[in-house]
Formats: sequence, C-alpha cells, structure tokens
Amino acid sequence: MSAGTGTTNYTNPVVRWIEHRLPIFSTMDHMVGSQYPTPRNLSYWWNFGSLAGIVLVLQIVTGIVLAMHYTPHVDYAFASVEHIMRDVNYGWLLRYAHANGASFFFIVVYIHIFRGLYYGSYKTPRELLWMLGVVIMLLMMATAFMGYVLPWGQMSFWGATVITNLFSAIPIFGEGIVTWLWGGFSVDNPTLARFFSLHYLLPFVIVGVVVLHVLALHQFGSNNPLGIDRKSPKDSIPFHPYYTVKDLFGLGVFLIAFAVFVFYFPNMLGHPDNYIEADPLVTPAHIVPEWYFLPFYAILRAITFDILFIPAKLGGVIAMFGAIAVLFILPWLDRSPVRSARFRPIYKWFFWVLVADCVLLGYLGAKPAEGIYVVLALLGTIYYFFHFLILLPLLGSIERPKPLPASISEPVLGSAAATPAE
Ligand code: HEM
Repeated sequence: MSAGTGTTNYTNPVVRWIEHRLPIFSTMDHMVGSQYPTPRNLSYWWNFGSLAGIVLVLQIVTGIVLAMHYTPHVDYAFASVEHIMRDVNYGWLLRYAHANGASFFFIVVYIHIFRGLYYGSYKTPRELLWMLGVVIMLLMMATAFMGYVLPWGQMSFWGATVITNLFSAIPIFGEGIVTWLWGGFSVDNPTLARFFSLHYLLPFVIVGVVVLHVLALHQFGSNNPLGIDRKSPKDSIPFHPYYTVKDLFGLGVFLIAFAVFVFYFPNMLGHPDNYIEADPLVTPAHIVPEWYFLPFYAILRAITFDILFIPAKLGGVIAMFGAIAVLFILPWLDRSPVRSARFRPIYKWFFWVLVADCVLLGYLGAKPAEGIYVVLALLGTIYYFFHFLILLPLLGSIERPKPLPASISEPVLGSAAATPAE
C-alpha cells in the first residue's frame, strides 16, 4: 500500500475513492494494521499501552457528559453531583465509571511504566518515547488532582488546600504563587472555576502528547521481552490481526474487572469524607489524597527536618518532584548495555525491591505522619533515590549480564528460525 501516491490495492470502491483523496486507510494500516511489523514475542505486558489509550477515551467521553450536568460553583457543585447521581438518567453509572475510570487509568499506566522499567524500554533509542510518557504521567496527575476537587466534598477542599499550599514552600515567590493559583486568599469559587476549566482542557493536551508518544514508538517499533532488536523479517508479525485480537482480549478482561468495581464496589477506592460537603471551618482528622498519589504523598511528608539551608517543607516538596524528575533522566542513569531484566541477574531482584518500596510508600502515605510511619517513609524515600541515582549507574558497570539469544525468532521457532527468511 503506498501512502500518498494515489494508487491503492484496496478492493472496496468506497475505500478506494476515499483513500485516493485522503490516505487514511493506508495510514491506519501503517500505524496499527497489517502493514505495521511488530516483534512476534510480545507478552500480555504489552497490552497496557493500548489499554491506557482506550481508558483515556472512556474518561473523556464520560467526563464530557458529566460536564453537561455539573455546576462549577461552590454553592451548587456538591448538589449538582448528587443531582447527577439521583436524577440524571444513568448519571450514577457515568459518575462511577468516571471516578473508578481515573483509578483504573492509573493502575493501567503504573503497570505500563513498571513493564518499561523491567524490560528496559526506556533505553536507547526509545529515550524520548519514555520522556514523553513521564510528561503524560505528570499531566495525568494534574488532571486527576483537579478532578477530585470538583465534587466539592471535604477531601476535595482540604486536599486542594494542602497541595496548593505546597507552593508556599518556594522561597520569596511562594506565597504570591499560591494566591495566584487560588485566584484569592483561600481555595474558593475562583479556584473551583479554574480547576474545572483546566480539568476539561488537560485530557486533550494528554491526547496530543499521546500522539507524539505513539509517533516516537513507531520510529523504532516496540521493544520486547528479550530486549533485543529485530534482525530478520522472521522476528516480526503484522500488528493486525495478531495484536489487535490480543489487545481486544485484554480489553475484555479489563472491562470485567472494571465492571466489578463500578457495579459492586463503586466507592471502595474513594474516601467517605467526600460525601460531606466542603466546610472551610472543619478540618478532617486525616487529609489523604486518592490512592494513586499515596507513594508521592509519603515522600512529601518524609522530610521532617531542615537540610542545611533548606527548610523541611521545601525539602519534602523537592523530594516529591525529584521522585518524578529522576524518571526523566533514567535513560542516562542506567548504563547497562542489556535492556531486559531477564538477562540481568542482579537488576532483576532490585526491580522487585523497588516495586515493594513503592507499595510500602503507598501504605505509609495513607497513615498519619507520626512515629514509626515517618521513619519508614524516610527510609523508603532514601531507598527510592538510592535505586535510581546509585544502584542503577553502579550495576551498569559491575553486573555480568547473561548471554543474549541470537534473535527473537530463535527461542520462539527453534530450528525453523535457522532457515532463511522468506
Ligand atoms: C495516557 C497514557 C499512555 C498511553 C495512552 C500510552 C500508550 C502507549 C502505547 C499504545 C504503546 C505501545 C504498546 C505498549 O508497548 O504497551 C506505548 C509504549 C510505551 N510507553 Fe506508553 N502510554 C502512556 C503512558 C506512558 C507512560 C506514563 C510512560 C512512562 C513513564 C510510557 C512509556 C512507554 C514506553 C517506554 C513504551 C515502549 C514500550 C516498549 O516498546 O517496550 N507510556 N505507550
């Protein structure tokens, strides 16, 4: 199929007519179709990218319909969400799908990220693909944070107050920035209005960055569980029908798990205090963010002491943003020539220690910032940075990787791979 030349092999006359004028079909074929060669050994861990794309669309569609019934005003926001739940046809379904959709979006993307960490997908030549992913993650966090403020419950209000106040830790300009963010002298109606506006806008910015992410992906194609490059045509199979079918199967499994939450446990991942309308005069006993922010929240609160001239609060903010910043430079921190952890006997274990560390930090983020919890959070934070800043550069030089297979097709096809490619 030649894109842009006007000649096509399509048999359907309508498709031919359109393709001649707008090469949309050949473009799709090259992006996700029979003309896109893909490593033949991709496992189910490679389902999560396309799944993330589908969940993004689900969030945008449910969000747009919710916005038709929601009122971004401090006097009406809470009631308008109840109105959606009780009066709007299938409003409860829309809201529960959107709220749980946010959680599932993070589950999918976190798995997607850890897949990349395990198989070294961030390594050359996919550095920019990875960095665009980190940008997406930051945008997702900003979007989810602002979305949580919209129902104007107690956690909405106090979560927004705590997190926006973090900027006051910035020397000299901090207080001014916070007032500017709020549009006043506390989290109030102007804050709600701008958060609603940005919560509507940012998902479309995410779509834009996802397009760049997928463009960067197509430059070299997917990495794979072996982490070695494709050498012969035998190493590849067409994306369609092989991976379209596999992705659809994964989507089915995902939708079953999603439906279990939406229909049977719709409030399990939320906080009961958010069913109490925001009250600036009553502070909840424990202010906790949504579960997907908990590891970062633990890092933020782990720094309880001044470090030289850096006050504790600023130290916490730097550590929290630093936890994401290290991901940006990860491709240059990990010096190992081998991508996949399958062939990295030491890294393989430390990968799981990092997973355990992130789970521990998540647990600690939900606990009050006192006693043993703070000590453990500090240790967890130190380990997190140790992994990226010290361990990875060190392993690059001391680890002896296992021998790599000669090709992708060899372990899959055995001796058949030795015959020349057709
Ligand atoms: C809205 C969120 C995202 C969407 C829709 C998305 C989409 C995709 C898709 C469709 C793929 C190809 C299929 C696959 O390898 O699973 C992919 C690959 C990849 N993504 Fe994402 N992604 C998202 C977020 C992220 C984030 C947050 C990161 C990292 C911080 C990331 C890093 C990567 C990497 C390194 C690859 C290449 C994987 C490989 O070839 O082994 N992505 N992404």
